[in-house]
Amino acid sequence: MVGLIIPAAGTGERLRAGVPKALYTLGDDPLLIHAIRAGISSGVVTAVTVAAPIGEVEAVRKLLEPEVPGTVGLRVVEGGASRQASVHRALRETPREVDVLLVHDAARCLAPASLFADVANAIAAGRPAVVPGLPVIDTLKQVDAEGAVLGTPDRSALQAVQTPQGFRRDVLERAHRAAEERGEDAVTDDAGLVESIGCPVYVIPGHEDALKITRPLDLVLAEALVARRTSGEQVRTTSPHRRSAPSGSAGA
Ligand code: CTP
Ligand code: MG
Repeated sequence: MVGLIIPAAGTGERLRAGVPKALYTLGDDPLLIHAIRAGISSGVVTAVTVAAPIGEVEAVRKLLEPEVPGTVGLRVVEGGASRQASVHRALRETPREVDVLLVHDAARCLAPASLFADVANAIAAGRPAVVPGLPVIDTLKQVDAEGAVLGTPDRSALQAVQTPQGFRRDVLERAHRAAEERGEDAVTDDAGLVESIGCPVYVIPGHEDALKITRPLDLVLAEALVARRTSGEQVRTTSPHRRSAPSGSAGA
């Protein structure tokens, strides 16, 4: 069974939207709804656990209940002070039958359904931990505290990683427990925790739509993406040419 954990408890300080970021409305719906819909429509998820902003557990449950089919269990827990704590709480509340976990930031709410399936399939094929990644576009410099350049890492060996990240449950649990024992409580990357216990992590091709909404400028791109998807749907349902096209050729 595949469980989806959505850390959604952040305040969204850098977005400065006046509401917790996961509850900010993009297009017609909050980021969290976009994220859940993609996860559910992947068809691979059998349980969902959401870490909600402090004080918002009941409101989030109400918001999500209509989105989650009865065959998929929904749990909403109160998030923690850090993303790591939020994921750990959600993990503890996820039913024992779930043996594969997809951890997905509400902030990457436009990640396509296919990406959830790709990550889950890679775990099913035997990888213990899988993260989607894309080539790095910018040249990166390693610098010291004074800003002096120490080196230029080889960009071709670097990947910018995204979510959903997939893990065998035992691996993710061990990684979170070990981090707690080391006294770490604010690591923002689950794959990084898994690396720290010496478990191999594999990167598979990510998707441009899985961008993280962090600053106001990111919303400009996300809004354009939502608008493009909405108009794309209209074209598909109203274009006589596409309606009469043989199946399989529409949109090719
Ligand atoms: N998150 C969480 N619990 C926290 C902090 C973050 O569940 N205590 C979640 C966020 O809701 C988000 C994801 O982790 O979906 C990635 O975090 P980020 O993009 O940094 O969101 P925020 O922490 O809300 O933003 P900021 O750092 O600007 O405050
Ligand atoms: Mg944050």
